[in-house]
Amino acid sequence: MTVKALLATPGDGQEVVAKGWVRTKRDSKNIVFFEINDGSCLSSLQAVVDKSSSISPETLQRILTGASVSAKGHLVASQGKGQGVELQVDEVKVIGDAPADYPLQKKRHSFEFLREIAHLRPRTNTFGAVTRVRNELAAGVHEFFQDRGFLWIHTPLITGSDAEGAGNMFQVTTLDVGNPPKDESGQVDYDKDFFGKKAHLTVSGQLQVENFACSLGDVYTFGPTFRAENSNTSRHLSEFWMIEPEMAFCDLDDDRAVAEAFIKHLLNRVLNNCEEDMAFFDQWIQKGTIDSLKEVIEKPFAHLTYTQAMEELEKAKEPFEFRPSWGIDLQSEHERYLTEKVVGGPIAVTDYPKDIKAFYMKMNDDGKTVRAMDLLVPRLGEIIGGSQREDDLTKLEARIRSMGMEPEEYDWYLDLRRYGSVPHSGFGLGFERMVQYVTGMQNIRDVIPFPRAPKTIAF
Ligand code: 4AD
Repeated sequence: MTVKALLATPGDGQEVVAKGWVRTKRDSKNIVFFEINDGSCLSSLQAVVDKSSSISPETLQRILTGASVSAKGHLVASQGKGQGVELQVDEVKVIGDAPADYPLQKKRHSFEFLREIAHLRPRTNTFGAVTRVRNELAAGVHEFFQDRGFLWIHTPLITGSDAEGAGNMFQVTTLDVGNPPKDESGQVDYDKDFFGKKAHLTVSGQLQVENFACSLGDVYTFGPTFRAENSNTSRHLSEFWMIEPEMAFCDLDDDRAVAEAFIKHLLNRVLNNCEEDMAFFDQWIQKGTIDSLKEVIEKPFAHLTYTQAMEELEKAKEPFEFRPSWGIDLQSEHERYLTEKVVGGPIAVTDYPKDIKAFYMKMNDDGKTVRAMDLLVPRLGEIIGGSQREDDLTKLEARIRSMGMEPEEYDWYLDLRRYGSVPHSGFGLGFERMVQYVTGMQNIRDVIPFPRAPKTIAF
């Protein structure tokens, strides 16, 4: 039985076995107490050994923080405060010793230090809780879309096109980078590369999933994406997971409604199913998280156009580092001001200037703005980016050209506009940003098992 199951069982003296890792040990005159944690829940099971029992002093000495143990005994009502049951141990085996240099001692370690021992941090309370909440969110993603009849599409991770047109891609090659083959003009000859052309890791599954939306209706992706931006911030990773729903016969207003329902579904699921872990985050990581998330579920999300948002920012009496003016991209300080000071909750900002958004977004009649939508949340800023897609072939070709890209490269994508084009929309939710938002964790590197970021790939 897991510790979680044992803790939920009434202690009426039945014989049980608990297996896990020792978190703490206390030695008193006649009794040794130690806590067993197996990751099934935040709490540990208290194990109690009577020193007059047949367990040898040598074995008791080996029960140290970090050691793995198997303890057999009787589950009884706990004498101490805080938990219902404890294990009165009859037999204990140390399965794997952990000498005194075990890096995770009882004291609180900084997250920076824990990143240096990222292989051991799943054994801490915080990373156990993050991992369980992350799992719950992933299950909630599938539940939301599957219940609504969306199909999960497995889009490729290696790609021949740049989905965002932003050029922040990791190249994939089997050429000898020290001595690549050259063509007649002295350029690297990608005909000789593995795929016969330049290839990269994908920044988004959107372009491919659009093809499935325009055949099968409502679809979504959920997988890793890769960005080679040199951003050393608490919200950027070089490898992160993204959920990208895409819906045919759907405009930006519908898209925004799905995004709001989706976020609320995920919050509800975590608040209902991860009570113990959420109480931990609320107490130790970000005070008031639970109440603020409950409030988000209850209220409709605010909506401003980019132009209205800029007006709010321009009249704000805040000492912004970047002066707001129509045409610039919203900076993190602007996003926080809008969500925390103007609205006090999540806010969807739509209709951004075309020059700061990707080539595939549908142009508004003003010729200046596109049907883009970003969802901003307090503390973090942007959590979702999406849009209605340009479904007019001529306009899309012109836009690709005007951005210095080659329409031929996107021929397969343009075919969707050649044959049976329909209005369609979608968005991308950064999965780690969602985990950050729910848990209140400050740094995105602490909500993914092994973070990838510039100069960070040790594990
Ligand atoms: O706004 P982005 O770049 O949108 C897209 O990729 C679209 N193709 C989505 C779509 O319409 N299907 O990224 C979407 C979200 C952002 O809002 C953010 O939450 C997250 O992905 N994100 C990152 N998360 C962690 N590290 C990074 N470097 C991220 N870049 C974007």
